[in-house]
Amino acid sequence: MNVDPSRRRFLHTLAVGSVVGPALAGRPAAAQPGEAFWEEVRRQFAFREERVPMNAANLCPSPRAVAERVRELTRDIDVDCSFPNRAKFGPLLEASREAAAAQLGVAADEIALVRNTSEANNVVNAGLPLEAGDEVVVWDQNHPTNNVAWDVRAARHGLTVTRVATPAAPSGADELAGVFERALTPRTRVLALTHVSNVSGVRLPVRELCDVAHRRGIHVHVDGAQSWGALDVDLRDLGCDSWTGSAHKWFLGPKEVGLLYVRADRVADIWPSIVAPSWGGEVEPRPRGARKFESLGQRDDAALAAVATTVAFHDRLGMARVEARIVELATALKAGLVEAGFELVTPMAPELSGGVVIAACEPDRRGALVTALYERHGIAGAATGGLRLCPHVYNTPAHVHRAVRGAAALRV
Ligand SMILES: Cc1ncc(COP(=O)(O)O)c(C=O)c1O
Repeated sequence: MNVDPSRRRFLHTLAVGSVVGPALAGRPAAAQPGEAFWEEVRRQFAFREERVPMNAANLCPSPRAVAERVRELTRDIDVDCSFPNRAKFGPLLEASREAAAAQLGVAADEIALVRNTSEANNVVNAGLPLEAGDEVVVWDQNHPTNNVAWDVRAARHGLTVTRVATPAAPSGADELAGVFERALTPRTRVLALTHVSNVSGVRLPVRELCDVAHRRGIHVHVDGAQSWGALDVDLRDLGCDSWTGSAHKWFLGPKEVGLLYVRADRVADIWPSIVAPSWGGEVEPRPRGARKFESLGQRDDAALAAVATTVAFHDRLGMARVEARIVELATALKAGLVEAGFELVTPMAPELSGGVVIAACEPDRRGALVTALYERHGIAGAATGGLRLCPHVYNTPAHVHRAVRGAAALRV
């Protein structure tokens, strides 16, 4: 195949990262590159144009560089699974931790690389020291692992779980924050939130809510499954006590790797869910900081190592540009769906949403609509909360257009 030299340079930049090509060099973080840039980004992914992923809230494809890294290191283990050969995986895990921590603006000691958001949410849920009579306030839109999981803990330890419902069409961040603030009581010990909801696409004003809760000494836990890799997240700025995410969603990383952030001063308070040999022989953990939460026995070392490769991919695009591109595509998608006659569940305003776009659709019609959109128009969405479509950097305006056209045709 003949590849023109500038494209080859660009591909090398994205795939290997050792060269910063002219397409990327010296560009201020917020400047948005043109469509040619994003076309090249799309070519880093193996999916075919007939089967276009638009379901980032559930699972994303990885760019070739990440998939190749997982394959290469898995093969390496299969060729030689001796202790000496696998010694390299300790430093590779630490490199992944450091890269993920740096991208999120926190210290490596505050990051545990666990298996997914479900597990990370449950570590916090099961590990916080709570007593009978304590109250946990949760958003009713939380994922079951940050919702039903609290009911199970409450049944075991006599806690109270209070569910907060937010308005269907929030007027702004203040209204959302006010609903939670009014729900807090002197017994509230934990405020369990979701950064961006997977069932409505609503983004909560987490920073404001942390300020409110921290004035009352409440632990704020945030499920970031729909924001890690989609939004330009700075965890210090966000201010929460714990935060979770899955590498296989918007982050575009290896499958079955999750991230758990616990702020340094909260690590000692949270009990581990699993104690495996890496814990050490004493009650006090041998691992430093949040590493104590990843004492999980044998792991998929190749997948863990590939987190650093994924961070490098994001860094070369620039997280601010990734977020801006996702907002741009999501905004076009929302506008198109509205024009096609759909009512949006997700707010139009970018400050109240992220990359999750949901259009209202009767529960009994959702499955058929999503299946037909995939089979007849080649767009893979989901039937969660309505018709859910989540565009990412690998999607193009043509994909968005196709999704809108397909949804419009199927609606009538
Ligand atoms: C908000 C939220 N939290 C947690 C999860 C669970 O993610 P995982 O299956 O990677 O654990 C999901 C999955 O869609 C989600 O949307």
